[in-house]
Amino acid sequence: MERHTTLGEFIIENQKDFPYAKGELSALLSSIKLAGKMVNEKINKAGLSQILGKAGQENIQGESQAKLDVMANEIFVSTLRNRGEICGLASEELEDYLVFEDDIHKNAEYIVLIDPLDGSSNIDVDITVGTIFSIYRRITPKGTKAELMDFLQPGNKQVAAGYLIYGTSTILVYTTGNGVNGFTFDPGIGSFFLSHPDIKFPPVGNTYSVNEGNYVHFPQGIKKYIKWVQELNEEENRPFTSRYTGSLVADFHRNMLLGGIYLYPQGTTAPKGKLRLLYECNPMAFLAEQAGGKASDGFRRIMELQPEELHERAPFICGNKEMVEKAEEFMQKE
Ligand code: AHG
Ligand code: MN
Ligand code: MN
Ligand code: MN
Repeated sequence: MERHTTLGEFIIENQKDFPYAKGELSALLSSIKLAGKMVNEKINKAGLSQILGKAGQENIQGESQAKLDVMANEIFVSTLRNRGEICGLASEELEDYLVFEDDIHKNAEYIVLIDPLDGSSNIDVDITVGTIFSIYRRITPKGTKAELMDFLQPGNKQVAAGYLIYGTSTILVYTTGNGVNGFTFDPGIGSFFLSHPDIKFPPVGNTYSVNEGNYVHFPQGIKKYIKWVQELNEEENRPFTSRYTGSLVADFHRNMLLGGIYLYPQGTTAPKGKLRLLYECNPMAFLAEQAGGKASDGFRRIMELQPEELHERAPFICGNKEMVEKAEEFMQKE
């Protein structure tokens, strides 16, 4: 019987594609894999371990943190700190970025940005959540402390990005700029196996994902686009189907596999939308482009936006290339 390649094997086989610090990036991806397994284990038993519910505090985003937001953050921070592959880390759940200052870490090449638990409002109701990660090479020289400028790089400088989706099965999906691959976790064995090689958006999609409850706040272009997707046009497969979970990871994953578009636009109450450029938009944009899709703020390519601050937000339109281009057309007409 032919056996599936493990994630560990795949990382090593493909490290020839990394232009620099090959071993280090491979080890870093393995550390993310380990932390992901630990978070997966917590999430799977959450109802039995008294770790559902609120942590009783707000994060820097002004959101009430779930206990699992805090726990997933701690797991990723401690796992990545315990190993020597990164010199710094920034997280949706931490006000400031962390700099790892000892000699081993100071000499490391990479920094990581994470959304430790995406879709955390869905935890207590047993709906799919995820973890999103984004990896950059530092700009500051090795041997020195990482600085803010290492974290504020545009998305087109990412060397790797991906997510774990804790769904009906747990899958790790990632790219290092050479296509997108997905690995399903086998809990009996404790390993991820290649199950979704070279993922590409199907050529046409007819699903749209948007929180339509915010409709009145949306810009005119998005309002008109939403009306357009709901019009009857059999040749163009309209009206589209609406699917929205409230977990970006789940909505993105479905749209990438089946074809679709995700929109979190700006609104009158949120001038740059809700999603965080560094922890959510950029990694998803990198994956989308690598899978033949597109990610835009309505006018510009997400990965070309120059971040000005750590927790910056950006309007986000992402999915099948043609679908995103149609939404951009509506935005640009207004
Ligand atoms: P997080 O749980 O990491 O804070 O992210 C929540 C994000 C994203 O996952 C989701 O698509 C979106 O917020 C949902 O927002 P609304 O509830 O406003 O639709
Ligand atoms: Mn949050
Ligand atoms: Mn999120
Ligand atoms: Mn989160």
